[in-house]
Amino acid sequence: MLKIGLIGCGFMGSMHANCYQNINGACVTAVADLRPQKAEELARLSGAQIYSTGKDLIKKADVDAIDICLPTYLHAEHALLAMKKVKYVFIEKPVALTVEEGATLIEAARACDANIQIGQVIRFWDEYVALAEIVKKGTYGRVINANFRRLSPIPTWGWENWLLDATRSGGAGQDLHIHDIDYVLSIFGKPQSFYSVKNTLGNTNDYVNTIMQYPDFVVGVEGTWGLPESYPFTATFRVVFENSVLENAGGKLLCYDQNGVHEIKIEKKTLDGDGYQGGNISDLGGYYNELLYFCNQASVGAPIEKARLSDAVESLDFVLKELSFQKN
Ligand SMILES: NC(=O)c1ccc[n+]([C@@H]2O[C@H](COP(=O)([O-])OP(=O)(O)OC[C@H]3O[C@@H](n4cnc5c(N)ncnc54)[C@H](O)[C@@H]3O)[C@@H](O)[C@H]2O)c1
Repeated sequence: MLKIGLIGCGFMGSMHANCYQNINGACVTAVADLRPQKAEELARLSGAQIYSTGKDLIKKADVDAIDICLPTYLHAEHALLAMKKVKYVFIEKPVALTVEEGATLIEAARACDANIQIGQVIRFWDEYVALAEIVKKGTYGRVINANFRRLSPIPTWGWENWLLDATRSGGAGQDLHIHDIDYVLSIFGKPQSFYSVKNTLGNTNDYVNTIMQYPDFVVGVEGTWGLPESYPFTATFRVVFENSVLENAGGKLLCYDQNGVHEIKIEKKTLDGDGYQGGNISDLGGYYNELLYFCNQASVGAPIEKARLSDAVESLDFVLKELSFQKN
């Protein structure tokens, strides 16, 4: 049994705890949160031992792997301690606030021989996994252009409202838009050049829109969390290929071609543990897939080859360049 120590029992910690409940061979045996009620809620799921701080858990808990679901500004310091204790560490995205912190983590992981996975979950999201395969195989010909969007109401759920403090979260660019940037870099690599804009009126940390120029195609990536609560969370893509257009919208993957439109059905995995226990996202989706991968690798001592630490630091680096982009 892979014993997991889960640090941070807020929104993402709760999602992760529910995923682990559905992974055979893994069990959350320790949880930590500054808010006792949050820790108790998750401890109840699997009978985990409760610690009042992340550092206390790292110091005292008997675990094989540590999962860090803390606010972003606390990732690096906890990850550095965690990798001295266990060989497998999962860190939620974005990996850190700065590239310097990221570089320190890479160096420390190498020195500790630790395997680190970052929660760049879109790499594990079914529709996006399908698109990556289609691009790789050239199923519909070459890509001509693509567009990715991630639109969210203002995230007000965070502990101490940390998400709305750009010095602790990095704002919508680092926290939300990085999902699509990381994915785009994973399937297309780095662009030759890019052009990026942000809001100038209103909150300058809540909107970013970037056009990435590749040798043969162009990719647009838009992200915002500056929308009212009534606006539904929306994550979509549209990719124009030589022979078809693929669109992920409204929970469906649709293919448009000369014969009309058809849906590409994706077989959803059956969860294999005790069953979904709640949380406020109805589909464990990519969260389950990424943690299943993490647990599988950790269980057999295999290296982490997907959503690696170095990939996440590159994505962070790109987003920070977008955010500081100035037109010449
Ligand atoms: N992959 C995704 O789609 C996704 C979605 C949301 C959030 N996230 C990421 O997950 C991370 C956590 O975000 P969240 O939305 O769960 O935030 P949150 O505020 O809901 O939860 C953070 C928790 O950490 C606890 N905490 C703070 N300091 C602590 C400490 N020293 N020791 C123990 N507990 C402590 C807080 O009490 C809180 O319960 C962030 O990095 C965020 O960017 C990822």
